[in-house]
Amino acid sequence: MNTQKLVDTARILVAGNKGLLAMDESNPTCNKRFARLGIPQTEEARRAYRELIVTTPNLGEYISGTILYDETIRQQKKDGTPFVKVIADAGIVPGIKVDMGAKDMAGHPGEKITEGLDGLRDRLAEYSTMGARFAKWRAVIALGDGLPSRGCIEANAHALARYAALCQEAALVPIVEPEVLMEGEHTLEQCRAVTEVVLRTVFNQLYTQRVMLEGLILKPNMVLPGLTSPRQNTVDEVADATVRCLLRVVPASVPGVAFLSGGQAAELASARLNAMNLRFKSRLPWPLAFSFARAIQQPALEIWQGHDINVKAAQRALLHRAKCNTAARCGRYDAAIEKDR
Ligand code: 13P
Repeated sequence: MNTQKLVDTARILVAGNKGLLAMDESNPTCNKRFARLGIPQTEEARRAYRELIVTTPNLGEYISGTILYDETIRQQKKDGTPFVKVIADAGIVPGIKVDMGAKDMAGHPGEKITEGLDGLRDRLAEYSTMGARFAKWRAVIALGDGLPSRGCIEANAHALARYAALCQEAALVPIVEPEVLMEGEHTLEQCRAVTEVVLRTVFNQLYTQRVMLEGLILKPNMVLPGLTSPRQNTVDEVADATVRCLLRVVPASVPGVAFLSGGQAAELASARLNAMNLRFKSRLPWPLAFSFARAIQQPALEIWQGHDINVKAAQRALLHRAKCNTAARCGRYDAAIEKDR
């Protein structure tokens, strides 16, 4: 195993105040977001949108790495320059989503198991030759009546650990993403308890599968009340619960934690990340960064709407969110930064 390369890449991904930009929506997910805005759901529209993102001027000042999808890593700018080259030239590390999606789990109604281990070694080798230096695998855990089940947590944690081991064998840093979903009426405390069990199980499996913790990035959910929970907690309560949960279960050897946004409003995701860093940064063993998709991209997508004429304004909106989240990494995000476009 190329231990030093893994450690170096992981450190680069969470260095300074930068974070990750996830632009690895699968075609069906990307199409769903396009459909809501009346954007054509074609390969060319997805390519044009990803070109908008990767050519955003100065993106590398705020973004350390970006996660691509299989279709995107093979695409080019209109002038023929491969996206991977555009990204690397901007000082951004290219990464790749390698799971094959969360599928209904047999015997577990309402729960999903992420697939994609078969043939993964060969796919990782190909992505590595294409320039990827890290990878991502997302597991989803639903909360609800009697959910999550032990079977779902264990199967997903096992798959995450086997994926991570294969990535490290291929010298790609695994982003380990166990996402406890926001949908539901559950309380903040219920989310905290489930997130703690999930992370504990994931780290047990990572240990069993001999994954080197110094060479991975954890991508967890923030600890949040359910979207339809009658009690919506304050930003500080969310920050406290999230940090308390992570401190209990995430080993200090992990080089970084980069949160997913999970459908939170963009400004709220920034405010919550900011509160965690403002209140706890000096006391934490790992940096708290971001690996957002929707919370960075959504405002830009809504401005773009599929039209060339909107590209520059959309890029400004994208850069703005990247900048806000960089400020949140060091507890300097506030209303003034939000207005400074
Ligand atoms: P969101 O930030 O939109 O949750 O996406 C992050 C991600 O990469 C999901 O796998």
